Amino acid sequence: MIKKGIILAGGHGTRMSPLTKVVNKQLLPIYDKPLIYYPLSILMLSKIRDILIIVNKGQLNQYKKLFQNGKNLGLKISYIEQSYPRGLPDAFILGEKFIGRENVALILGDNFFYGQSLSDKLLESKKLTSGAKVYLHKVSKPELYGVAKINHRNKIIGIKEKPKKYYSNYAITGLYYFDNKVIKYAKSLKPSKRNELEITDLLKKYLSNKKLFAEVIGRGGAWLDTGSIEDFYKTSNFVSSVENRQGFKIACLEEISFNNKWINKKEILEAIKFYGNCDYSKYLKNLIIK
Ligand code: DAU
Repeated sequence: MIKKGIILAGGHGTRMSPLTKVVNKQLLPIYDKPLIYYPLSILMLSKIRDILIIVNKGQLNQYKKLFQNGKNLGLKISYIEQSYPRGLPDAFILGEKFIGRENVALILGDNFFYGQSLSDKLLESKKLTSGAKVYLHKVSKPELYGVAKINHRNKIIGIKEKPKKYYSNYAITGLYYFDNKVIKYAKSLKPSKRNELEITDLLKKYLSNKKLFAEVIGRGGAWLDTGSIEDFYKTSNFVSSVENRQGFKIACLEEISFNNKWINKKEILEAIKFYGNCDYSKYLKNLIIK
């Protein structure tokens, strides 16, 4: 059972400059809350409470102001700074001590997931005891992602990072589950042509040992991009449409924690005080007066 999760929230942020000159990209808004709320909610829906957030140099304080040590969300949050964006597998090198002898989940700080029965899938995936598991989603522009070729039984038979020529349209999303070998494998990687350690090279180690498993998110599920400013607007629109139609919030962290019985009324009241007079607080108030 996976109990630990890492959120990678560093990166260059250059594509979003000047917005990201001072503010970490994952703290920019997706509609009514910072982007990081969405990947954090995914770990919380997986009932993972021990969380490491990796942030780029100089921006750690912004996160501490928001989450402190996570106690107010029923979590245990620790932080590590990444001195430069060395690549996604760096998470397991920097996070070696945090992971210890356990298995671990990784979610990229800029990934957005939403869909019916997603929580059930997440709870199933965290049962992983050996190997690695990835979530795949069909996309119309596979050249922007790491992609996986799968056979008729949804088994992965090949992987490529941002292929220029068509290879497969199943993108490997930024949610991964690994056994403890991930630390050893990450340490053995060499930088790619773009001078980064590549997650796809790490996954290939599992694939060659027949230990890479796939979960396909069907067309009823949404995996959205937040790579560019345009994507921020599109994803914000998506969240706004769903939230305003249903009256439920996506990725309200306190609500998830409350439903998981990790926090009670007292912490919700504290959160309301912390956020101040805003729609988010009104939503929180409604949770406890019902
Ligand atoms: O979003 C899924 C894709 O993410 C996968 O399909 C690709 O296989 C994978 O390589 C990755 O591709 P990107 O080019 O989108 O990764 P990017 O460099 O944009 O980084 C993703 C997130 O991780 C972003 O929030 C910044 C953070 N990051 C990235 C690097 C390289 C770090 O915190 N540290 C890093 O060293």
